[in-house]
Amino acid sequence: PYAACLAHNLSLLTPGTLDRFFFCNSGTEAVEGALKLAARYFKGKRPRFIYAENSLHGKTLGALSVTGGQRLREFFPLLPGKTVPYGDAAALEELLKANPSEGEDAVAAVILEPIQGEAGVIVPPPGYLRQVRDLCTRYGVLLILDEIQTGFCRTGTFFACEHEQVVPDLMALAKSLGGGLASIGATVATTKVFTTAYDNPHDCLVQTSTFGGRTTCCAAALATLEVYEEEQLSQRAATLGERLMQGLQAIKARHTHWIREVRGRGLMVGIEFDAGIVDQARYLPAKIPGLRNVLKEHLPGMVAAALLKQFGILGTLMLNNRAVLRVYPPLVITAEQIDYFLSSLDAILSQGPRDLVANRVNHAIASAGMKCITPWTSAFLKKH
Ligand SMILES: Cc1ncc(COP(=O)(O)O)c(C=O)c1O
Repeated sequence: PYAACLAHNLSLLTPGTLDRFFFCNSGTEAVEGALKLAARYFKGKRPRFIYAENSLHGKTLGALSVTGGQRLREFFPLLPGKTVPYGDAAALEELLKANPSEGEDAVAAVILEPIQGEAGVIVPPPGYLRQVRDLCTRYGVLLILDEIQTGFCRTGTFFACEHEQVVPDLMALAKSLGGGLASIGATVATTKVFTTAYDNPHDCLVQTSTFGGRTTCCAAALATLEVYEEEQLSQRAATLGERLMQGLQAIKARHTHWIREVRGRGLMVGIEFDAGIVDQARYLPAKIPGLRNVLKEHLPGMVAAALLKQFGILGTLMLNNRAVLRVYPPLVITAEQIDYFLSSLDAILSQGPRDLVANRVNHAIASAGMKCITPWTSAFLKKH
């Protein structure tokens, strides 16, 4: 009964006629469910999916097959698909125009994140999602939106697709559905897609999982939905997101050598650093080949470490973009806490790159063991 209640309550929040739910344990499973539904919708006659470069949709084989991030794909034999540059509706149309209605090259669905998360918080140009929706309708393919990261108030609306009044045919949900406590995901479909794909009740069993939709997780999700609504967290994310963005833009203006771009929507924000700042740490031992490049790749990590060590603030990195620091505070954050984060970041960047780099190198020395880098470590340590 909890799963039924959750499906009902979610159906009041999902846009349009997205009202059929399959509950699972994670985001990647929610994506698997959506891909399988799309494939069955076309009775298996269209085996391919279009996905965006640098996207992330999960790490099980199907979801990984539509994940553009190259580092994750290496080594695995994946399902054939087609990629498009994210944010480029014309490129998508080129592919869709040539889409055969069946056969091994035929596409069943386009899968996208409304804002790319792990690619480094990439916000598409205004109107992009709407154009994608229209193209999918015009060329007769399904649209799957992965709201696993953007859903549940994060971007200032309950789902990010609401910013452009777009209703996909299928949606994948997870992460904040369980309020950070329960492992729960959901594949959501319109009645038309669901009933076409699974035309008798027994068919539904082809996509179930022992623990999917179990009572404790559904109860946690029900309670979570109540909090989103009662505390008006999407409104809160929109308002506090403005404050965060304005503060970060001011920091960027003060530290132009450090920050290349700040971007995002609501409380889904990324700071792209300019790795060139590492070149200002001139005392780095020149003899270690590649050291500067390694440090450049670790720049957001070094800032995150300083935030944690000096100010007790937890920051994380992105899977598909090493230049970006993730700023996704909890939706219940206060204005004062946002200001504390801003002043902490400002203080770290004002210190310059010297200390950050020194800490990182010392850490590398400690974890690599002194022996292998002896020729330069003693000189380096003397300086610090
Ligand atoms: C947009 C997106 N889709 C899918 C996933 C996969 O979710 P999970 O880690 O729960 O399998 C993630 C995880 O980070 C994600 O960000």
